[in-house]
Amino acid sequence: MKKTHFNEPSIKELFEAAKKAQKKSYSPYSQCQVGAAIRTTQGKIFSGCNVENASYGATVCAERVAIQKAVSEMGSIQLKELMVVTHASPPWPPCGMCRQVIAEFGTEITLYLANLKGEIQTASFKQLFPQAFDPSHLKKPKKSEKNNKK
Ligand code: THU
Repeated sequence: MKKTHFNEPSIKELFEAAKKAQKKSYSPYSQCQVGAAIRTTQGKIFSGCNVENASYGATVCAERVAIQKAVSEMGSIQLKELMVVTHASPPWPPCGMCRQVIAEFGTEITLYLANLKGEIQTASFKQLFPQAFDPSHLKKPKKSEKNNKK
């Protein structure tokens, strides 16, 4: 995972969106405030915060909230970039369940993991989640491919 800087305005824009969402975090149980922001390949930004639940299990992470907001506004999306902002050092990566949900909407994604101390790390999604099970695995074989089977 590489360290990076906020020099680029497009990264700063994503960070600001995630930071703003983080302030809305509903996390009375863990006190861990998480904000996420995604940029689609069309250039649209959506953000989300973690929304906890008294059952614990019904908690939804910030990354999934951002993705679900985007899909509910846009229909199917393709992800280009994802920023996660926490208070943690080193910054937190997306959890396993979020990685699976991210993979549904693209694997060619740049991840930025940041905190409020100015630390920011970058990685490709494939680095964090190699060999993802994604929609391509459920593609039905073409008739011609079926006929070739013995
Ligand atoms: N959390 C996220 O929002 N994203 C992650 O990828 C990791 C965990 C939240 C869920 C819960 O509200 C809190 O952080 C502690 O796990």
